[in-house]
Amino acid sequence: MQIPATLLPAFAESFGGRPRLFRAPGRVNLIGEHTDYTGGLVMPAAIHFSTWVAAGRREDRTIRAVSEGFPGALEFSLDLTPKRQGNWTDYVAGVAATLEAAGHRLRGANLFIHGEVPVGSGLSSSAAIEVATALALLKNSDLFMEPMQLALLCQRAENEFVGMRCGIMDQFTSCYGRAGHALLLDCRSLEFRLLALPPKVHLVICNTMVRHELAASEYNARRAECEEGVRKLGEILPGIRALRDVTLAQLQEHRSRLNDQVFRRCRYIITENDRVCQAGAALQTGAVDELYHLMADSHRSLRDDYEVSCRELDIMVEIGSRQRGIYGARMTGGGFGGCTINLVEAAESAEFQRRVSAEYQRATGLRPDIYVCEASQGAEAIEPAAEDFKGGAQ
Ligand code: GLA
Repeated sequence: MQIPATLLPAFAESFGGRPRLFRAPGRVNLIGEHTDYTGGLVMPAAIHFSTWVAAGRREDRTIRAVSEGFPGALEFSLDLTPKRQGNWTDYVAGVAATLEAAGHRLRGANLFIHGEVPVGSGLSSSAAIEVATALALLKNSDLFMEPMQLALLCQRAENEFVGMRCGIMDQFTSCYGRAGHALLLDCRSLEFRLLALPPKVHLVICNTMVRHELAASEYNARRAECEEGVRKLGEILPGIRALRDVTLAQLQEHRSRLNDQVFRRCRYIITENDRVCQAGAALQTGAVDELYHLMADSHRSLRDDYEVSCRELDIMVEIGSRQRGIYGARMTGGGFGGCTINLVEAAESAEFQRRVSAEYQRATGLRPDIYVCEASQGAEAIEPAAEDFKGGAQ
């Protein structure tokens, strides 16, 4: 991984001295959307955009953090509980406070943050900053934590401090991502399998460049509707703990117990878990062609039953789906804007990018960002070389 050229000089200018470096990647989800917080199945991959944290030790118990891309700064004492600010500093303060609350006594740190993951685009810049910060604060304090505990702790920070009731997918992927692979993760047992992605397929991420305001509140509302579904179905199916314990036939049979909206939310989740299983089998047997209809059905169900898509995402998926070399297209991430994921024949991906960009622009007047991504390695400490400190890193 290439250390961002500005990172070490910027740290030196803000704080002085030589920091340690950490990075954690964003992720893209191939299939299995909104299933993580219902204890279901997901199939994400870490991508080559990371959040970098340069960390220097302090002698007191103060945390100071600045970000290259965003205004404002964070400064608080680990002996007091930090307050939510409603901006990027919440991820840093939240992780520090959650680590302390879990009994890890931290040392003070100066943190300089450099983000490459596009913010607000459903590629999980929040998990990336959380995981990179947690790694930095632990190492800075000579502490260690297993990646599984680290992922769970970062999720808790986001749930409790930031107030977003996200599942485990993003933090887990940021910790466990593997180059060239997707993860097939069971979000209930947290068992996972690595699935090799065919080298002939590129992960092409198309950013709609819109982010509708509803995203956070609707996210929590969907989660509550799924919980209502489990509660109501549990009255008649006492053994169930989550929607994955319910079959589609059972859902249909007990439809009258649910209002129509909750019924459709449950139908989406139950069918999506099934699609993830099928997609996993397809990748394992090399039957990549089967992903096309699985991803198309996933998108349709997200749009019609789960209602987390939007006009721009639908247009982008429609355009991507009819290009040469496409193996599958759908929205990815929480929805209400952000990105689509397109699996594209490697030889066609440059042309795909040109055509989708032109067509999306014609249809919406918006110029999309399109990233051809590699499935990448999860979070790690990076040892800078001596010349990196001279500002010569490229
Ligand atoms: C966000 C959340 C994840 C997951 C996705 C939707 O990225 O952080 O936990 O629920 O949305 O699949």
